[in-house]
Amino acid sequence: MKSYDIAVIPGDGVGKEVAREAVKMLTVVADKYGFGVKVEDFEWSCDYYLKQGEMMPKDILDILKDFDAIFLGCIGNVTKVPDHISLTLILQLRKGFDQYVNLRPIKLYPGVETQVKTATPQRVDMVVIRENTEGEYSSVGGFFKMGTPDAFALQTGVFTQKGCERVIRYAFELARKRQKFGSAPPVGMVTNCTKSNALNYSMVFWDSVYQKVSQDYPDIKTDVALVDALTMWFVKNPDYFDVIVASNLFGDIITDLGAMLQGGMGFAAGANLNPERAYPSMFEPIHGSAPKYEGRGVINPVASIESIVMMMDHLGEEAAARDIEKGVAKVLSEGSVRTRDMGGKHSTAEMGDAIKNAVLEAGS
Ligand code: IPM
Ligand code: MG
Repeated sequence: MKSYDIAVIPGDGVGKEVAREAVKMLTVVADKYGFGVKVEDFEWSCDYYLKQGEMMPKDILDILKDFDAIFLGCIGNVTKVPDHISLTLILQLRKGFDQYVNLRPIKLYPGVETQVKTATPQRVDMVVIRENTEGEYSSVGGFFKMGTPDAFALQTGVFTQKGCERVIRYAFELARKRQKFGSAPPVGMVTNCTKSNALNYSMVFWDSVYQKVSQDYPDIKTDVALVDALTMWFVKNPDYFDVIVASNLFGDIITDLGAMLQGGMGFAAGANLNPERAYPSMFEPIHGSAPKYEGRGVINPVASIESIVMMMDHLGEEAAARDIEKGVAKVLSEGSVRTRDMGGKHSTAEMGDAIKNAVLEAGS
C-alpha cells in the first residue's frame, strides 16, 4: 500500500485546532482511497522557544527532509516571542527547502459572504504565484550606528535571474493548465505584479525576466499591473484576473486582500512548493495564530482543509483532492454549518466533521 509520511507542526495559538481538522481530513481521504498516512507531530512553537531558547532545533531541515509533505498550522505569539524571531521558523523552512513557489488560490465558494461588494463566486477565481525564497525577504541588511543620532537600518532585496525566472515560468505553466479563458489562444493570462516605476533596479530586472519568459508562451496573454493599482483592480474587477505572479513581499500583501475577496482569512490557503520535489513542500492556512481565540474552537478550519487539497494534488492524489473540494463546496453552499466568521455558532470541529461527512459521500 502506498503510504505518505506527513510532518505536522501545529505551532501557536489556534494552530493545534486547525491542525486537528487537517489531519482528520487526511485520515478520511486515506481510508477512502486506500493509501496510508503516517503523521508525526512536532512541537516547535513559541512555547518550545520559552523552554529551549530557540524556535526549532538547528537540524530542523535534516529532521524533516525525508517527509513527503509538511502541514504547518500557524506560528507567532508576541506575548511570548517577538514576531521577527518566531517567524524565522516559517521563513527558514521556505528557504531551506527551496519552496520557491507560494501558490495561493483565490476562489469564492457559493454560500460564502464577503464584505467586498464586487466579489461573487462567478467573478473570483484567480491564483497568486508568490516568489517565496528571495526578493524583499532575503534577510540581507543590518543595523548601523545604533544608539547614535546617525542610526540607520538597511534591508536589501535580492532578485536573482534564477529566482525570478523559475517562479515566473511556473506562473505561465499554471496559466496554460488552467485555461481560464477557454481552449483557443490566449488560453490564460499571467499578470506581472510589479513596481518598476519606483523600484528602478529590482523590479526593472524582474520585468525584464518576465518579458523574456513570456516569449516562450505565445498562447498566454501577458499583462502588467503596478502593485498599488493592482490592489484597486482586485476590488474593482476581480474577474479580470487569472494568474498573478508577484515578488515575495508584494505577493504577501496582495494575498491578504485576496483573502477578503474569498470571504476572509478563514478561507485562504497557501502551498509552499518545491516543484522539483528535491525537498518536501509545505501546506498552511495563511491566517495567523490568533492567540486570543486559542482553545475556543471558533476558528474556521476551511483554510487548513483547503491546504490539504493542495497537498493531495502535490502528492498526485487528485481524486482525493477533488473530493475534498466537493465536500467543502457542498457544506459551504448548504450553509447549515457556519463558523463564527461566517456569522454562525458552529465550532472548528463541527465544521471539520461536516466537511468530513460530505467528503465521505462525494462521488460514492
Ligand atoms: C504569510 C505570512 C508570513 C509572510 C509571515 C507570518 C512571515 O504573512 O504567509 O503570508 O510574510 O510570508
Ligand atoms: Mg501574509
